[in-house]
Amino acid sequence: MVRIGPVIPKNFRDRVVAPSLLAADFSCIRDEVSRAIHAGADWMHLDVMDGHFVENISFGPAIVQAVHESNDIFLDVHLMISRPDRYLQQFITAGSDLISVHVEAEHDVAETLGRIRAAGCQAGLALNPATPISAVEPFLAEIDLLLCMTVVPGFGGQAFMPEVLEKITAAARLREAKGLSYHIQVDGGIDAATAARCYTAGANVMVAGSSTFRAPDMTAAVTSIRNA
Ligand code: DX5
Ligand code: ZN
Repeated sequence: MVRIGPVIPKNFRDRVVAPSLLAADFSCIRDEVSRAIHAGADWMHLDVMDGHFVENISFGPAIVQAVHESNDIFLDVHLMISRPDRYLQQFITAGSDLISVHVEAEHDVAETLGRIRAAGCQAGLALNPATPISAVEPFLAEIDLLLCMTVVPGFGGQAFMPEVLEKITAAARLREAKGLSYHIQVDGGIDAATAARCYTAGANVMVAGSSTFRAPDMTAAVTSIRNA
């Protein structure tokens, strides 16, 4: 697969729809990613879980590499792992275009973000619903994307947590006040209805697993989220 290089995330005001592979049929990942591309997906969201930071185990760098080699789409890798610093190089080598790490994980956040950017990847910082925006404020100038989890991480198919909306608005206000340009991504329970609320609150990157891969018409689902 000849790569034309990562599609650099668009302006933070542009809408991005990123289906989550976690909701796909793992028995045919190549075809599922291809299906998402044909349905209009902008990015592919890859949920890496270690069974320690979250109560689930999903997949590792080998799957990221397989997707990288079998389809040409921007790979948005979400590391829900306790030691992202320990495994970072493997995800970079596997072909990630953007790597998000959790502020709650056991690592030197600034150092990890610096390594992601030094490798030529986009750097994302994720925070759980219960984590206040103050926890990520020191790092906002070092990131390309802020991932505001709208469910407790670990599983797809959970209900959207509306209490996160005010955090999204706070993140957008901080971006404005500091003259920064990071994307604001939401992840968990996103469909057209919840996406509309998140756009209004200030988010522009919508991660959606169940509502896209498990929709009867994936193109209609992706389009409805983009146009919500
Ligand atoms: C949860 C993951 C999400 C999840 C989204 O820990 O980070 O990306 O797969 O799945 P849905 O859209 O089904 O809530
Ligand atoms: Zn995710």
